[in-house]
Amino acid sequence: MPEKSPDQLSLAEAKAELKRLAEEIAEHDERYHGQDAPTISDAEYDALRNRNAALEDRFPELVLASSPSNRVGAAPQEKFGKVQHRVPMLSLGNAFEDSDVAEFLGRVRRFLNLPEATEIEITAEPKIDGLSISLRYENGELVQAATRGDGAEGENVTANVRTIGDVPEKLAGKAPAVLEVRGEIYMSHRDFAKLNEKQSRDDEKTFANPRNAAAGSLRQLDSSITASRPLRFFAYAWGEAPELPEKTQWDVVMGFKKLGFPVNPLMKLCRSSEELLIHYRSIEERRADLGYDIDGVVYKVNRLDWQARLGFVSRSPRWALAHKFAAEKATTILEGIDIQVGRTGALTPVARLKPVTVGGVVVSNATLHNEDEIARKDLRIGDTVTVQRAGDVIPQIVAVMLEKRPRGAKPYEFPKVCPACGSHAEREERDTGKTDVVRRCTGGLICPAQRVERLKHFASRNAFDIEGLGDKIIEEFYHDGLIQSPSDIFTLAARNERSLKKLKDREGWGEASVKKLFDAIDQRRSIALDRFIFALGIRHVGETTARVLARSYGSAEHFRDQMIAASHHDEEAWNELNALDGIGAVVAEAITQFFGEGHNIEVVNELLKHVSPSALAAVAASSPVSGKTVVFTGALEMMTREEAKSMAERLGAKVAGSVSKKTDLLVAGPGAGSKLKEAEKHGVEVIDEAEWFRRVGEQK
Ligand code: IVH
Repeated sequence: MPEKSPDQLSLAEAKAELKRLAEEIAEHDERYHGQDAPTISDAEYDALRNRNAALEDRFPELVLASSPSNRVGAAPQEKFGKVQHRVPMLSLGNAFEDSDVAEFLGRVRRFLNLPEATEIEITAEPKIDGLSISLRYENGELVQAATRGDGAEGENVTANVRTIGDVPEKLAGKAPAVLEVRGEIYMSHRDFAKLNEKQSRDDEKTFANPRNAAAGSLRQLDSSITASRPLRFFAYAWGEAPELPEKTQWDVVMGFKKLGFPVNPLMKLCRSSEELLIHYRSIEERRADLGYDIDGVVYKVNRLDWQARLGFVSRSPRWALAHKFAAEKATTILEGIDIQVGRTGALTPVARLKPVTVGGVVVSNATLHNEDEIARKDLRIGDTVTVQRAGDVIPQIVAVMLEKRPRGAKPYEFPKVCPACGSHAEREERDTGKTDVVRRCTGGLICPAQRVERLKHFASRNAFDIEGLGDKIIEEFYHDGLIQSPSDIFTLAARNERSLKKLKDREGWGEASVKKLFDAIDQRRSIALDRFIFALGIRHVGETTARVLARSYGSAEHFRDQMIAASHHDEEAWNELNALDGIGAVVAEAITQFFGEGHNIEVVNELLKHVSPSALAAVAASSPVSGKTVVFTGALEMMTREEAKSMAERLGAKVAGSVSKKTDLLVAGPGAGSKLKEAEKHGVEVIDEAEWFRRVGEQK
């Protein structure tokens, strides 16, 4: 049924509608800001807010105390104290296909260099769809409970967690001095239904799903409310745990059971990818009867010494994998194709769909990836299409029903100019002779879309992480001329002081929210160097590369100067950059291209007037190789190349791909050739693998 426009509604209808909108917007705010899991697009969110504002305009007497107009986007975030996780809380790599499971085992085997005949034991258990929590016990007593947050820092929710019956206050049996037990807080289907019934009886907000209900219940300021909500817990992992006596994942989790924690009864020890898949299927079959939401099966390498050797790539362990359940599907109409312009000028097509419910969530757009994808699927406006949501919130189009194609539907023509600035949009020729799949706007910083996207990236979570400066606010501030370039963020408060048009007088703002924003900005005047580099938004420079650069160059000024030198063909600077591990020609080219442009240097210089990036602490400051530049060459026999690299980095060393006079140490195995010669030429110390292990003191 089409929605009535605000001026067609009666007083009673408007009242009901305002209540509904307040609830709906609050929920999206919570998903967006509280859980980082939005389920609608920005445009849809804006439409809800606009409708709310229009209704309030017409019926000022109906404005609710809880009206979204009285709040900025963010739900109150500062209500809980922060907790630094001593051991980061990580996420898991995802898999969707059966073949990913054998690949996972293959990767583990290769990394550890295990012969085919060696059995790898893997635990398989349900992936609970709740929220993860870290419980700290000291001398057997619960002293702190923290949410995951961004993995490094979470919220202190101890008082609330103490109300959860599944979480013991005191550990049973012999208590270690320190133990952090981690797991998932969730709500059962039955309790969720009961809670929602009660909420609507009491005229309170209802929850969209058990996960939201659990999150909302845990993040209550008043812990008596949490106590009234039936939250449950499963233990499946740990953080700081210096006295762990067990040697396997399985034994630790079984140990948790003895200490008084619920552990999932469907956890099973498997010995092959076939066995894993059988268990996966059996869990999937029971999914509907479990009584709580799960969204896949988690596999973990059982031996803890192997887990330690496997370590992590960026934020996920190499020793674990989340095998998600197949996506849910629905059929709808492709109503249009919108083109979004990204930070690096990439034109991304987005399908505009007739809204349809897929697995409980209303979907109205889908990613189309790129031009070729549209052509390959021959998508035409008006087509009937099948959409699916796979694991995350971004839905995809998986099939077109040709028999339902409207007569006269024309093949889609991808625009050749940027819709935001009108510049030419090109597909680059690669060195390989292939054309890039992505069409890019050539407007650079004259393109308003690229500028806004760069600003969004700059303030985003893994970059400067400025709370309260989300995408929507950046767009607004950009359009109103308040923030045009990153350094403007840091002069905002001073300019506001002088200006007659104060921020606090803007719609949706007030003294408190302005102060909160300025405080959040001030907090970021000092920042880790890797975040600073990542925030610049240089093409191909992701978080990992930014970290390598930060470790290698040490300070923002030195990094800038060396990159400018490299972009002016200074051979030494160029070679040093190229020798860094994980930095290939494409990345080096992108970085020097960035520093070859005056306006980018200006952005960096302006920023450095307001922020001071700090050098990264070496991972292990006290290790004998920390701060050293190490190169591995020849055949390694005691560890794989990948393992060597990650061990060295863990110990605070830089790993380079080639030898130069900056190299401190060459670890050479049998068959070492040109690098060994190069090392001798530069007088670099050369050692073998056994000596490496002796020095770093790690046992093999
Ligand atoms: S293990 C280092 N096991 O999934 C690995 N996680 O995508 C720590 N989750 O943040 C996680 N069930 O909230 C693990 N049986 C399970 C899980 C599980 C649910 C969640 C957890 C984590 C997320 C990662």
